Amino acid sequence: MNLTNRLILSIIQLSPKGLVKPFAMRYIAGERLDDAVRLVRALNSKGLMATLDALGENVSTREESLAAIGACEQILHTINETHLNANLSIKLTQFGLKINEEFCYSNLKRLLEIASTYRNFVRIDMEDSSTTSLTFNLYKRLRTEGFENVGVVIQANMRRTEKDIRGLTPLKANVRLCKGAYIEPESLAFKDGDEIRRNYVKLLKTLLEAQCYVGIATHDDFLINSAYQFIRQMNLKKTDYEFQMLHGVKVRLRDKMVADGHRLRVYVPFGRHWYAYSIRRFKENPQIARYVLRALFVRE
Ligand code: FDA
Repeated sequence: MNLTNRLILSIIQLSPKGLVKPFAMRYIAGERLDDAVRLVRALNSKGLMATLDALGENVSTREESLAAIGACEQILHTINETHLNANLSIKLTQFGLKINEEFCYSNLKRLLEIASTYRNFVRIDMEDSSTTSLTFNLYKRLRTEGFENVGVVIQANMRRTEKDIRGLTPLKANVRLCKGAYIEPESLAFKDGDEIRRNYVKLLKTLLEAQCYVGIATHDDFLINSAYQFIRQMNLKKTDYEFQMLHGVKVRLRDKMVADGHRLRVYVPFGRHWYAYSIRRFKENPQIARYVLRALFVRE
């Protein structure tokens, strides 16, 4: 991020949350599960699938973790009761990863058991590099124990990912492939946009050739077109993969992809902890950060 964009973001972060909220709501279904259900219903009616995320990360007490898990259980019950075409995305730091690994493992296991009674699926989002190895270890442990209804995320910006997927392809892992949203040191992550894209394409090819089910998570036209080429060349059925996008981003492209016959899942975050998530989205799109800043300070 260049200096001006960094400055803009700092000003936004110093502004009262109430002023930033209307802009943040572009990316968030609302503060309550009902809001998310309403949005997912609308998406489903347009032929889109969804994944729900109860916002929050990095809890520091067991009580907070248990509350987060309770919220996730409620989401699974609600998806089932309201017949939504949706699954669940979670963050392990919400489930106590930084408190105690065994505690986190048993929390996730309980959630997967509930999900499997509904034939539903839980995706473990990938967080910053301090959690990568722990996340892959937990994922592999649960797969070894027979849980098939769990998937993981890999980040194309991370130098280690090519090696990591060697441990995932033999498991025919269900993987979401994204560029990576966290700011990491150059020793761990590619910084150049083209280098990240090249790695994304390389990883996507490896995963599809290994017959892994891939959630191709990107809004980048170049990467979407590269995925189209692989889909054609490998003669993939539309159930062999899915595209994934964030709620509120590139809506027109998303609808066109579905009209073209691809399956697409929208990531739908909701909840009271909308602030940190929105700041990450503003970082990804400095143009939006500029709009926010202008609207905050310029009376037109
Ligand atoms: P890029 O950022 O280059 O965007 C391409 C174009 O899309 C931009 O030029 C712009 O037009 C538009 N665009 C992108 N972001 C926008 C925004 N916020 N607002 C408006 N327009 C925007 N990361 C991670 O580390 N762990 C995870 O678990 C996940 N999970 C995840 C799920 C899903 C479904 C998606 C789509 C993404 C993630 N990510 C993630 C985030 C991911 O790593 C990445 O940061 C973003 O997807 C942005 O990268 P793109 O590939 O979209 O390219």
